[in-house]
Amino acid sequence: MMKLGVNVDHVATLRQQRGGAKPDPVKAALICQKAGAHSIVMHLREDRRHIQDNDLFRAKEALTVPLNMEMAIAPSVVAVALRLRPHQVTLVPEKREERTTEGGLDLFQKTAAIKRVIENFKKKDIVVSLFIEPDLKQTAKAKILGADAVEFHTGAYADKTGNAARTELTRLEHCVKLALGLGLIPHAGHGLDYENVADIKKIKGLEDLNIGYSIISRALWTGLDRAVKDMLGLI
Ligand code: PXP
Repeated sequence: MMKLGVNVDHVATLRQQRGGAKPDPVKAALICQKAGAHSIVMHLREDRRHIQDNDLFRAKEALTVPLNMEMAIAPSVVAVALRLRPHQVTLVPEKREERTTEGGLDLFQKTAAIKRVIENFKKKDIVVSLFIEPDLKQTAKAKILGADAVEFHTGAYADKTGNAARTELTRLEHCVKLALGLGLIPHAGHGLDYENVADIKKIKGLEDLNIGYSIISRALWTGLDRAVKDMLGLI
C-alpha cells in the first residue's frame, strides 16, 4: 500500500505572517494523523521561515505516526535533529532565496559532508532519506553513502503535461526499480496534487508520497480532515 506523508509547513507559513501562535502546525499534524496520514513532514529551514524548532519537539511529543524532519545538512539544523531524534530525516538542498525546494541534492557535491551527516544520524538509529532527482547515478550514490531511503523529486513531472510528463514518469519508474534493487526504500514528492497523483500511484514499489502544498491549499475549501482523506482515497 502506498503511504501518505503530509507536510504541514504552510500552516506555519500562515502563522508566521502575524507572528503569533495560530494557526498551529502541530494541531494541523494531529488532524492529518486522525484523518489517516501515515507520517507528518516538517521542514526546519535554516532561516526558520515557517517551522520553528519548538514545533518539531511538540510534534514529536504529540504524534503517534512517524515524524519526518526535512532539513539541509547545515550544522545548526543537524544539531537540532540530533537532539530531537525524529523517526526519519530527509536531507534536502536549501537555497535561501528559493520559494520551495527547487531540486534534489547532488550527492556528487559536498559528498564527504553528506556522508558524515548520514553516519551521525545512523548512529542515533534515525532513518535517513535523501531527496534527489530521479537519476540513476544519484540513486546508486545514495546507496553507497549509506542512506536507508531516497525521495525522488517529482517537480519536473508535476510541471509537465502529455508526452513530456510521461517521459518524466518513465524516469521515475526506472529509478524506483533501481532503488528497490539496491535495497533503498523509494519515496516521492514535490508538486503532487489531486490530479497528477493518478499516474504516480501506478508506480509499483513506491512506498511513500510526501505532499504539502496541494493538501493545505485544498483544506481552505474542504477542511484539512477532508483534504487528507480525499488524497488518501486517490492513492
Ligand atoms: N518532499 C520534499 C523533500 C519537499 O522539500 C517538499 C516541499 O517542501 C515536499 C515533499 C512537498 O512538496 P509540495 O509542498 O509541493 O507538496
